[in-house]
Amino acid sequence: MERRTSTLAVLCVVWSAAAAIQVDIPQDQYEFARGDNITLPCTFKSALPSPKLAVITWSAGEALIITYYHPSGDIDVDIKSEGRVSVDANINGGSGKADLKVSSVTSADNNKYKCHVQIPKDLGGKVADTATLTVLVAPSKPICKIQGTASYGQNINLTCVSEEGSPSPTYKWNSYDVLNNPRAHDPRTTDKGGILSLYNITKETSGFYICTSQNKIRSVSCNLTVSVLPPSMNIGSTAGIIGGVIPQSDRWMDAVKRLGLDVCFCLLSTIMGVKQQHAALV
Ligand SMILES: *[C@@H]1O[C@H](CO)[C@@H](O)[C@H](O)[C@H]1NC(C)=O
Ligand SMILES: *[C@@H]1O[C@H](CO)[C@@H](O)[C@H](O)[C@H]1NC(C)=O
Ligand SMILES: *[C@@H]1O[C@H](CO)[C@@H](O)[C@H](O)[C@H]1NC(C)=O
Ligand SMILES: *[C@@H]1O[C@H](CO)[C@@H](O)[C@H](O)[C@H]1NC(C)=O
Repeated sequence: MERRTSTLAVLCVVWSAAAAIQVDIPQDQYEFARGDNITLPCTFKSALPSPKLAVITWSAGEALIITYYHPSGDIDVDIKSEGRVSVDANINGGSGKADLKVSSVTSADNNKYKCHVQIPKDLGGKVADTATLTVLVAPSKPICKIQGTASYGQNINLTCVSEEGSPSPTYKWNSYDVLNNPRAHDPRTTDKGGILSLYNITKETSGFYICTSQNKIRSVSCNLTVSVLPPSMNIGSTAGIIGGVIPQSDRWMDAVKRLGLDVCFCLLSTIMGVKQQHAALV
């Protein structure tokens, strides 16, 4: 007796599933990169093998964005979405399709989307389903800077920030010596949230520092050249540079050779700047 009831119950469930409309968006969440042309899939099964009429509507949050009428193929589109959205529909009772297409998605398209299918004489099933769309943004090329004075015994920070990126990028600094060999950070060095803090720096701290900014879409890097100089030669101490340029030039050339033209250019332009200032004063 009990067994018969349960068989009947199973039959009832199967029967009702087949008899009423079932709308389905396969996933709860969709993620796409900004700028992509996307498709949010929506399928339905109708109790009617070939419905004469069907109305498909897609909404984002509370706002209706597009309505598609079968069999005319007419559409009504919300002004804000005009030209960017369309419905890719196939009205076949057994395996219908009502996909939403959106071109060139932006962060403004982050929303909960609802696919709703209305077929006359086919009520009582699941007429709608929802999914969340998340638009991801690749990190922009990070801006990397030195904070503090790059001279012996100082503490400095190397900072790394991408202005864009969704989800928020994570940052990692890698260090290379002046000959471009990878090396481990000094034990006191910390790397937190894009800030690499270097303590009591020495000549050996000089080299290349690469920061990689990464999220689930992409990773991008910057490359910072750090040259640690004795305090008297520091860019910040004007008197040291004017007074000490000639006698120190051998050490300069040494440093320049090892670090390459970047630094050479940087130092030269500093000297020029200082000389110009000096000339202006005189
Ligand atoms: C998106 O579609 C438009 C036409 O609607 C096309 O011009 C563009 O290249 C496509 N973009 C991508 C990333 O496929
Ligand atoms: C380096 O960053 C830390 C933490 O943000 C800060 O406390 C410190 O003052 C910074 N040092 C320099 C030289 O900017
Ligand atoms: C900094 O390093 C020098 C040697 O490189 C050492 O003599 C000095 O004690 C260090 N200072 C600190 C504050 O760790
Ligand atoms: C960083 O820049 C230096 C000098 O321009 C170059 O020699 C080095 O290969 C670069 N490193 C990376 C990882 O791009």
